[in-house]
Formats: sequence, structure tokens, C-alpha cells
Amino acid sequence: MQKNVFVINTLNTHYVMGVNDDGVLQHIHWGAKMPVDEYSVFNEWEHNSNHSELDYTKEEYSVFGGTRYRAAALKCIYADGCRDSVFTFKSVTRDEGLLEITLTDSEYDVDLVLSYAYGSDHDIITRSVTVVNNGNAAITLERVFSAELNLPSRSPYKVINTNGSWGAEFLTESNELNNGTVVYESKKGIAGHTHSPFVIMHRDATEDWGDVFFAALGYGGNFKIEVNRDFCNTTRCMLGISDFDFSYTLGAGEKFTAPKVYMGYTCGFTAMSNMMNDFAVDNILPKGYAKKHLPVLYNSWEATEFDVNTRDQLALARIAADIGCELFVMDDGWFGKRNNDRAGLGDWYVNTDKFPNGLGELIDGVNSLGMDFGLWFEPEMVQQDSDLYRARPEWTYHYDSRTPSLLRHQLVLNLTRDDVREYVFDCMDSMLSKYNIRYIKWDMNRPFSEIGTDNLENGKELWYRHTMAVYDIADRLHKKYPYLQLEACASGGGRAELGAMEHFDMVWTSDNTDPLDRLYIQRGYSMLYPRKCMRAWVTDAGGSCRCSDDFRFNTSMQGSLSIGSHLLKKDKKTLQGYKEYIARYKSVRDTIQFGDLYRLANYDCDGVFITQYVSKDKSQSVLFISTAPTSLFNKQDKEFVLKGLDPNADYECRYNDNTYRHSGRFLMNKWHKVTIGGALQSRIVVLNRV
Ligand code: DGJ
Repeated sequence: MQKNVFVINTLNTHYVMGVNDDGVLQHIHWGAKMPVDEYSVFNEWEHNSNHSELDYTKEEYSVFGGTRYRAAALKCIYADGCRDSVFTFKSVTRDEGLLEITLTDSEYDVDLVLSYAYGSDHDIITRSVTVVNNGNAAITLERVFSAELNLPSRSPYKVINTNGSWGAEFLTESNELNNGTVVYESKKGIAGHTHSPFVIMHRDATEDWGDVFFAALGYGGNFKIEVNRDFCNTTRCMLGISDFDFSYTLGAGEKFTAPKVYMGYTCGFTAMSNMMNDFAVDNILPKGYAKKHLPVLYNSWEATEFDVNTRDQLALARIAADIGCELFVMDDGWFGKRNNDRAGLGDWYVNTDKFPNGLGELIDGVNSLGMDFGLWFEPEMVQQDSDLYRARPEWTYHYDSRTPSLLRHQLVLNLTRDDVREYVFDCMDSMLSKYNIRYIKWDMNRPFSEIGTDNLENGKELWYRHTMAVYDIADRLHKKYPYLQLEACASGGGRAELGAMEHFDMVWTSDNTDPLDRLYIQRGYSMLYPRKCMRAWVTDAGGSCRCSDDFRFNTSMQGSLSIGSHLLKKDKKTLQGYKEYIARYKSVRDTIQFGDLYRLANYDCDGVFITQYVSKDKSQSVLFISTAPTSLFNKQDKEFVLKGLDPNADYECRYNDNTYRHSGRFLMNKWHKVTIGGALQSRIVVLNRV
């Protein structure tokens, strides 16, 4: 192998870079493994004076400067005003599972450390970039993306992201990129409900076949994903912190590390989803609960909204415990003067009109029923009608010359201030130290606006620093209370991404709990995010109210089953049904939360929705089949095959009161008919290895 070529060897792939004669770090290959001796750098040439050598080069990390007439991953301004960067190869180090390549701009003594963490049991490479200012003057970073990806130059790629909204998260969309640039980003302060901080690029891949290149950002603040196809048919993708209203001042001797990117190359979407699922469980989620299954929880929000008190919550808790819930979460409404969404945020002390003796009686009652207790907070927010705002109006993001814009009657606290961060931590800490609270649902219900701050010299840092402050508080809570489970919620799925999932144990995926809509939302989520983290409530909600409890439970069982229905309004028979569904979920929960997922059919293409989960040891498989809202589709005799089973083992299942026994080989090769007639029907089929 050439000495200036670096190969990252993962389970099934090679990722290869090399340094050319000019010291430029080139991207050489990402995909199937080849003999390493055959990789080499390629010295481009100036084709004519309008297209420079660098226009043609696939650079591993492009910087702004010289004759690059395309997007750059890094743009900085040096103290003397120079905005031209020249980074060339300086050194390389390789430790077990970690390759670090340092480039340097020697004129200004600034290094760029590109780091690649990898393993031999998966194909995910964790990338990050650190800018090290060894010089003696500050520099300003105007753009510092976490990674640049170069794809093989072939016919146009399809680029998958989401195009959703509140209540309609994770609706995946595909753009075929013939030329030019497609951009997905958030400018809201959180990742938000529309685009997702991930990208999937392929040509005509299916669930089982075709090259799939993907990357997900470990950051849930303002993000940007840019994919460009240029005049040479080269497709490049850059992703990282959005450069919208961003800059970061890096003082002499300081470093800045951009958020991580998890990227991979697989054959087909199923391999992508399962590999990312396992990688997140093993490497991203907070260690405390990553490998433990999550409890079935009850959440009070849809039943009681702000109208919470000890008597009613305990009445709900008694039924929740009886049907098999393991955790009871009291949502919004328990604090300050919180009787509706107009007041109270910021005052994180118990509302004594609703709970005259504090929360002790409720929490003891819940515990005595055998359930843990959890509580809702919205720590980043304050309302003008609150004691906190009356005392500390300057603690919000604001400009003195502007009237602050309210959304849901609330303002965003300036978490980049040390005193605000301490206040927020102390509020939760004092509740956690006083009561046996083992779960916090951390909500966030509005994007930022008027983002003025007087505590930072460079106000454009605040978007990034706010996100880091959220992560820092979550980490401190986990450290002080190792048993604590944290749920990240932002009006539903505004924070359902891998940045949050490095610091929170699970996410709330959507405020839309309609079980039919939810199948679409869950499908998009399942592309790159771990299914155990996806809280999925069974509720009474839904425009598609024709959905039976079978349908509702079979939808919610495909993640971390939770209940949000008004249990006090259910009759005995319904509750007995709930009890049986929850017991069934517990018997398959490990397969769903930790097994492999196969998306066998979906409404758009097949008129029926079928997903299959298979435990890692292939001893159990769980199949969910849900028919469409119209029975028209069901006339078409859909057929499907199972996947992922042990071909040499026999499996048994009960279906329609009969027991069936078949080999894995049969089940994976024989096309089975969907024999469920009628609209909005749903079945769960459990296969156990004999
Ligand atoms: C938005 C969340 O997504 C809901 O689940 C609920 O917690 C409400 N906020 C409470 O205000």
C-alpha cells in the first residue's frame, strides 16, 4: 500500500483517503473492500483556466480559499482579515479503532484534526473535526461542518430526508439530484419537525439491494445538510452546524470540535436501519438504560391536560398499575400558576392549589402500586406571567429595542448564561432530591426568536452554546441521579434525533397519536433511529377513530409501548383488553426493542402495512399486519415473504385459533397471502423457534 494512503477497514467496507503531491487530502473510495495495494491517489490537472484542478479533486474536507469554486466545509477569518485558507497534510496517527489526520494552515498555525472512529463489527464511521488555533490571535469560524462525503460519480442520486411539520414528523421525501444543490436545514434552534439531521443517498436501492450511503448528525441545534452534484457529475454532501447566523470566535490556544457524524455504506435500507439501530444502542445512547428494555409507561397529558391533582392522578395510576404499566408520568400542569398554557413556565415549584401537601402523597401512592414516578418539565422556557420572569426579565433571549415574539405565550431562557443554567439545573435537582422521581420528560415547545444576548462577545455563538447547555444539564442530571430516565420531547418529535439521544434515554416522536398516521411517522423514524427510544402512546385520539384497540396497540407496540388514554373513561372489558395487550407486549418487548426490523410492506406501495421484528438469536419473530383505511386494497391478495429467520429451524405460531409449524426456509421463500379482509384491521403474529 502506498505510504500516503489511509484505509479504514470496517466489517464490510473500506473508507480510503490519500495525500497527493500537493499535500491535499483526497477522498479515494467508500464502499466494498478491495485489495488495499490497489488504492492510490490521483493527481488532477488544470483542464482549462476556468476549471481548476481543485474543482475536479474529491477533497476529504474542502476549505474556503484558493481556486475552489464550490461549497467549502470550513470557512474562517484570520485576525488580519485574511479569509483564504490553505490546509495541507501534516501528520497521521492510528490507534485501535481511531484514525486521526491533521491538516495545517502553517501561515497562521491553525490545525484541522479530522477524526474517524470505527470498529470491525459494524460499518458505521464516527467522524468529527477539531479546529485547533495554535496561533497567537483569535480566528472566527463562519462555517465548520462536521463532514464532507464524496460519492462515486455516477448517474444522479436520490436524496432522502423528511418534509414534515408538527404532528406530521418523519414523512420521508426523496429528491433526485440531477444537478445543483439541495439543502435541508433548521434555523429554529432545535432540529425541529420538518427536515431531519440525516441524509440517505442512493440510486435505485430497495430494502434489500443497492448501494446506500447515509449519515446522521449527532447534533440537534440548527443544522444544515447540503448535497451538490456538479458539472463533473460528482456528488458531494456536507453536514454539520448550520452556518445560518452562526460564527464562533476561537481564541489563541483554543479548540473547537464540531458535532459528530455517524456515517455508513450498506447494501439496501434494511441493513442501514438495523446497523444504525444496533450502533446507537451500543455506542450513542446514555449507558444507564441503553441495553435495558424501557418500561411501559402511562402519561397523563391526553387524559387530564392541565387539570392535575392527587386524587385524579392516583385514580388513573391505580388502573395504569392494574393493566401492567410500570411507570406513571404526570405531564404538564403541576407547578406554578399553571392552569392553562398562558402562565407558569419557569416556576418549577409545586402548585399548592392543586397539591396542597406537595407531591409526596401522589408519588408514594404511585410507588405503592409498584410503579415508578415521572414528571414533566419545560426547563428552557419562561412565561411573562411567572414569578421568574417578573424577577428576571433579562434572562430571556431578547433585544432591548424589539418586542419579544411569543409562541404558545412563552419565551426562551438564555441558557448560555451560567446563572440561568444553574437555575434550571437547580429547579430539577431540588425536585429530584426531595421526591422519588425516576423519570423526567423534558419538553420544549417553541423555536427561538429575537436571539439577542449580552453575555457573549459573539452573539452568533448562542445557537450552538444553547444546545450544548441542554446536553450539559442532561448529563449532570444523569450523573447525579444514575437511575434517572430522561425523555427528550419538543412539541412531539422536534428533538427526535441522535444529538438528543446521546444525552436523553428516549424521545417523544410526535404529538400525533392517531394510530394510522403514526405508522407513517414511525416508518420514517425507523430509517436511522433506534426503535427502543421511540415512545409510542396508545390514546383515544385520532381522526381515524374507526381504529380498533387491536390497531392502536399493534401500532404502538412497534416502539416503546406507552399508554395515554383516559383510563377512567374505559369500561371493564376494554381495560381487560388493555391488560392483555400490555402482557403480550412484555412477552415480545426484547425482540422489538433490540431485534432486527424488516419493513415488509407499506401503504404507499402495497396498500397494507407489514413490519417484522426478529430477535438477534432468531428465536422469536413478531409480525404486525395492518390494513389500509379503505378495503379496496385488500381485494388485491397481497403476498409477502418473511425475512431474517433461521432457515434450518422450525417456527411455530398461533393464528386464527390454529397452530402452524414451518421451517424458516419455507417461511422466507413461500409467498404468504394477507388473509385479513376489511379496512383498518390489524393482527400481531408471534413466531417462536421450536
Ligand atoms: C407538548 C408535548 O409534546 C406533549 O406531549 C405534552 O407534554 C404537552 N407539550 C404539554 O404541554
